[in-house]
Amino acid sequence: MRAPFHSVEARAPGKIILAGEHAVVYDRPALAVPVPSVQARVQVRRAPAGFTLRAPDIGLTAALDDLPPAHPLRRAVDLTQAALQAAWPPLEVRIASSIPVAAGLGSGAAVTVALVRALAAFVGRALPPRQVNALAYEVEKLHHGTPSGIDNTVVTYARPIRYRKSRGWQPLPVARAVPLVIADTGRAAPTREMVLGVRQRWQAQPARYEALFDAIADQVAAAQAALAAGDLPALGQALNANHALLQALGVSTPELDALVNAARAAGAYGAKLSGAGGGGNMLAVTDATHQPAVAQALRAAGAARVLCTTLPPTP
Ligand code: PMV
Repeated sequence: MRAPFHSVEARAPGKIILAGEHAVVYDRPALAVPVPSVQARVQVRRAPAGFTLRAPDIGLTAALDDLPPAHPLRRAVDLTQAALQAAWPPLEVRIASSIPVAAGLGSGAAVTVALVRALAAFVGRALPPRQVNALAYEVEKLHHGTPSGIDNTVVTYARPIRYRKSRGWQPLPVARAVPLVIADTGRAAPTREMVLGVRQRWQAQPARYEALFDAIADQVAAAQAALAAGDLPALGQALNANHALLQALGVSTPELDALVNAARAAGAYGAKLSGAGGGGNMLAVTDATHQPAVAQALRAAGAARVLCTTLPPTP
C-alpha cells in the first residue's frame, strides 16, 4: 500500500468510570468520562525495512512478527490490517503513554485506539469510530476476558457516555463543571481476576447479586440525573451509595476504603472506587474550593498518585 505520509501521530485519552462498574458486565448501565490530562500517543513513521514496535514505557522493542498473535499490540495491528485489507509498508511504531497501567484509567484501550488510528492515517485512510471501537473491543478481550465494552467506547468517542452492553452508548449531558480528584492505591487492579470473582459469586448466589446489580443501576440513574441537573451534592450521594454496593460485591479493599473515607472527611461530596477494584483508583467529587484539600488528604492517606481534573460541562 502506498503511504502518503512520512510520519503521523494519533492520541487517545485516559478514562474513568463514574458509576456502574461490574454491574455493566451484567447489562446494567454505567457512566464513564474521558480523562484527557493523561493520554496515549502513537507515532508511525516510514522505516527502511520491516515493522518495528517500540514502547519504551513498558521496555518493549520488537519486530511485529516476533510478538505472539495474542499479544494486544500485535492483535491491534493485525486487526487494523484486516480492516484496511492491505499490506504494511516498512514502518516503525512508537508508543508512549502517560496513563498509569492497570489502574482503571483505560490505558490498554487508549493505546489500541491511538494505534489503530495512527496506522490507518499513515496509509491515508480513516476508519469510522464505530470500526475503531469494534477493533478496540476485540483487543480488550485479551486484557480483560469478558469486557463490557465501556472502556473502548468512552476512549474511542472521547466524550462523557452512558453505556449499556445491549444498547451501546449515548452522550451523557453534564450541566456544570464537575471537579474530580482521582487517587491511586499504588496496587495494580487485576481486572480479569476481579470480574471473574464477581462471576463466581453471582453463580453461587444469583438472586443476591442480581439485586445488587439492580441497586447499582438505581445509583447510576441518580448520578445521571444529578449530572444533568448540575447537582454535585446529589452526585456525591449517588457515588457514595455506589461505593457501598461495590463493597457488598466484594471488590473494594481496605486501601480503597481508606482513600474513600479520607476524601469524604476532607469535604468531598462523595467518593467511590472506580474500575475493577482490588486496587487501582478511587475518585472523589468535590467543589472547586475543596479540590486541593481533598487531593492533599488523599496523599496523606497514602495515595501513590493523585490527579486533579475537572469534567467540563457538555455543550
Ligand atoms: O478497566 P477497569 O479497571 O476500569 O474496569 C472495567 C470495569 C468493569 O466493569 C469491572 C469491567 C468491564 O468490562 O466493564
